[in-house]
This record gives sequence, C-alpha cells and structure tokens, in this order.
Amino acid sequence: MQNHDQTRRGLARGLTNYGDRDFSLFLRRSFASAMGYGREMLDRPIVGIAHSASGFNNCHRHFPDLIEAVKRGVLTAGALPIEFPTISLGESFLNPTSLKFRNLMSMDVEEMIRAQPMDSVVLVGGCDKTVPAQLMGAASADIPAIQLVAGPMSTSRHRGERLGACTDCRRFWAQHRSGNVDAEEISAVEQRLASTAGTCAVMGTASTMASLAEVLGMMPAGAAAIPAVDADRLRMAESTGRIAVSLIGSDRRPSRILTARAFENAVRLLLALGGSTNAIIHLAAIAGRLGLCIDLAQMNALSDTTPVLIDLKPTGTGYMQDLHAAGGIPAVLRELRPLLHLDCITVTGETIGERIDAASDWVDRAFVRPMTDPIRETGGLVALFGNLAPQGAVLKRAAADPTLFEREGRAVVFESLADLAARIDHPDLDVTPDDFLVLQNAGPASEAAMPEAGYLPIPAKLAKAGIKDMVRISDARMSGTAYGTVILHVSPDAASGGTLGLVRNGDRIRLSVADRTLELIVDDRELVRRRSKITAHGRSASRGYQHLYDAHILQANEGCDFDFLQAAKISSSASPR
Ligand code: FES
Repeated sequence: MQNHDQTRRGLARGLTNYGDRDFSLFLRRSFASAMGYGREMLDRPIVGIAHSASGFNNCHRHFPDLIEAVKRGVLTAGALPIEFPTISLGESFLNPTSLKFRNLMSMDVEEMIRAQPMDSVVLVGGCDKTVPAQLMGAASADIPAIQLVAGPMSTSRHRGERLGACTDCRRFWAQHRSGNVDAEEISAVEQRLASTAGTCAVMGTASTMASLAEVLGMMPAGAAAIPAVDADRLRMAESTGRIAVSLIGSDRRPSRILTARAFENAVRLLLALGGSTNAIIHLAAIAGRLGLCIDLAQMNALSDTTPVLIDLKPTGTGYMQDLHAAGGIPAVLRELRPLLHLDCITVTGETIGERIDAASDWVDRAFVRPMTDPIRETGGLVALFGNLAPQGAVLKRAAADPTLFEREGRAVVFESLADLAARIDHPDLDVTPDDFLVLQNAGPASEAAMPEAGYLPIPAKLAKAGIKDMVRISDARMSGTAYGTVILHVSPDAASGGTLGLVRNGDRIRLSVADRTLELIVDDRELVRRRSKITAHGRSASRGYQHLYDAHILQANEGCDFDFLQAAKISSSASPR
C-alpha cells in the first residue's frame, strides 16, 4: 500500500517519520548532501540500484564495473543513481543450500525497495537464486523495476579441451570417482573450471533464469546471454540505466509485465532451452507473488508441443557464449514465435512480438535450431504424477537416458543425506543397475532444506563397472548444470508426510514418462500401516530465520516460497495455445 509520500518523486518520496514532514525532507537532503551531491542532483528523481555483490560470490566479481555503467546511463538520462547492497547468495558458499535463503533475500529486496526513496530500481544479480529473489521482491514491492544480470562466464581450456562450470565440474568429478582422472589432474581442473567473472557457463539455473527474465519482459532484448566480460555487457548495463529512468512514472510495473500470459511464454522458453528444473520452482515463486500459479499439468501440455531448440550443455554441446554469438535469446524467440503470446508488454514498452520483429535475422544453426529441425520434438522437462508424487515431480527428460523411461525397478532407499553419504559407495550395498535409487528427507520441509542433492552419485561399484546413469528419485533438487535420469521435487516431500517417506528397500516402483506417472506398487493398507509408524523428519526451531522457515515453507510445486509472502490467488496460468 502506498502512503502519500510514495506518490512524490526523488528524495521527497517515502519520508522518515519524525512527525514533521518538512523537517524530514530537510534532514534527508542535509544528510544526502553529506555524500557530496549538489542541489541539482538532490532535485532529480532517483533510480535505486539493488545489487548482490559480495566477497562470497565469485559470479558477481565484476559488479563494480557493471554498476558504474548503470550509473552512467541513469545520469545521462537525467536521474540520480543510488546503489545499495542486499543479501548475496553465492551458490557454493552457503550451508546447507542457497535455496533456503532465497526467500530471505527476496524480503530484503522487497522491503528496501519499498522503504528507501526510489522512483524505479535496477536489480543487479545473476547467481542462481539472486535473480529469482530480486524478481520476487520487485513483484511484491511493485515499483517500476528492470533486471540486469551478471552474464555468463567464458570458457577456458584444459589439455586442449574446452571447460566451463559447471557441467564439466560434474563430468570430471565422475571420472575422478570412477578412477579415470587422478588426483593431480583433478587438482589442475579445479583451477580451470571457473576462470572469469560471471555465472556458470552452461544453460544451468543462472542462465535459465536470465533467459526467462528476458522473455518475461523484465530485461531488454538480447540481455541474457552476453558474456560477463564482454564490452557489450557494460553497454547493456548503461542502456539498462537509461531504461530505468524511462520507467519513472510509467505504468510498466512488474504487476503489469508479469502476467499469466508472460509466465506461459516463460514456460515455453524454458522447455525450448531444455533449461534447469530449478526454474520451475522459481517461476512458481515469482508467479505466486502476483496471485498466479505455474500448473505442472499445464506444463506437460506445453511440453508436448514445444521442441528443444538449443544445443548447449548440460543437454548438448555448446556454452552460453556460443548462444550469444549465435543470436542469443532473440534468435530462439523468433523460432518460438507461433507458440508465444506476442502482445505481452516489456520494460522497454515494446511487446514481445515487436521485439521479435526487430531482432536481427542472423542465427548460427549450430546452436539455435529451427522448429522444423529441432534437437528434440518435445520440451526438455516433464512432470510426473502418481501415488508417489500426488502434487507432482519433475524430470529433465532432455538430460536423461530414454532407455530408462518405461520401466519398473526395485527401490534402494536412503533415509537421509547422511545415510546416502555413509552407504552409497559401500562395497556391500545391495544394488544393481536396474534398481531405482531413492533419497528421502531432502525436500523443502526437511532439515536439509532441499539441496541440489537429487543427482545421487552412481554407487562406486557400479560406476567402476562403467554404469553412467540409473533412475534416481528424491524430494531434493538438482543443479541446472547436471544430467541423468533424475526425478526431482517429489511433492509432498518425505518430511511433510509424503508417500516418498513410506518407500522401503525392495519395494517396486513403476515409472512411465510416456504416461507421466510415478507409482509405488504397494497396497494402500500397507501404506497406511507404514504411515502410522513414521516419525516426521521436519523440524520447528524456536527462533530466528529458521523459525520462520519451518513455520511457513511451501512445497516445491508452490515455489518453496513462504506462505505469507504470496499474494491471494487471482487465477491459474493461461490455457495452453
Ligand atoms: Fe553462480 Fe553457478 S555458481 S551461477
């Protein structure tokens, strides 16, 4: 809700309450003068620059340069840029997992956008959870906002081979586990995997979310794939600053841009990219802030009619810098044109259709395929339902082995991450390549807080025998840079009393990707008996953020947001075209 001060511009907006409005403005201008601004600057409208630079975030290492370029654009267009830090979420630096703190960052972004005097805001983020957190916060605050992303890392080389985080991280680690890469070589690879600023170099979660921010209309055309270290990235930052000024006083607020039809466009692009499974959770969370939802059954309908068009790791061969050189997201959207809602408005005031019409027709077909010759006929993700996942589970079929899609297997169950770590490589583990590995108690309501642990390692004795993939099922997530026949986000999760927690060693599980089903073949009476004996693994802390988390975390199909941060539901997503 806006108070009177928030309808004013610049420093006069949202005054600190001292009981005397004129005094409040006098004091604020006086303190702002202490930062060296002249009167002409103090009279300007303000563009806030919310950024997540941190010494604990390698992906955001170049943010000082990016922010400087944004400021240049803002000043040129006649407003005053003021940067401010928010929480940062460096993917590999947070315990137990960055997702746990995404909602905290979104609250920081929302409240600081609302509480501080700014007429529009540039959101500068990039690493996996930072962009969703910023979009969630901006959607809730609903002042004009524009996203700027870090851009992807550039690749490096090891013994003549191209390397980029983090699909190659996993590939080399798997080879090290199976004994094919020795300690000296894995140490050399460690130094080469992430060698520039920017986000992971493949179509992982960060790149997927950047691409979705572009199709959602929250970024300029072509902004997602520009490499972090390219001069084009700085020019895009400068341009973003200018656009942020043009947003001041306009009705191009997040609530007008992030519509049900825009989210459907985002799901289409996600499927065409073979993008990260994490993106489904983040899209649901952003949509939830506006009273919308991402329906997994509807995603299946879209997946049936959306081909995979790009050839990038982890599902293909290229890296994000190749996508940029190939024409970027505009080239992909031009192919998807018949499937998109073209009338969706964007931050620049253009519609998606106008952007597509204005884009260059250059495209490198090595990385962006036409609809008539796709990488795959159907979308990269599919949702599965059944007694094992009544509210759904997600499989990235574009990164999985299709020979494992229609089968029944024996469950080999791990009750927790600790149990997994203790037994997965034990020589006596009773496991064959045809079994289904099941991990319990790694979902959002668990102590583990839904880490990217769903990519269960192949048991050492099978890996040494050359087994590279097998069916794995959990309530955890998987890194967007990983691959394999990995069924994730099983909802409700085991810690909330979901059926996943009732699976026992030796049970039979039936998977059918064709039928979109995941069934535990155990009769209902036995499941009732087992349920009466289980102890919940969820927890309830007495204080702090953990207390908030335990009391309010939602399931994966609802975006793992906190229930009290969502807006009242206004509708479901638009119907499939
Ligand atoms: Fe930041 Fe991968 S670690 S995007």
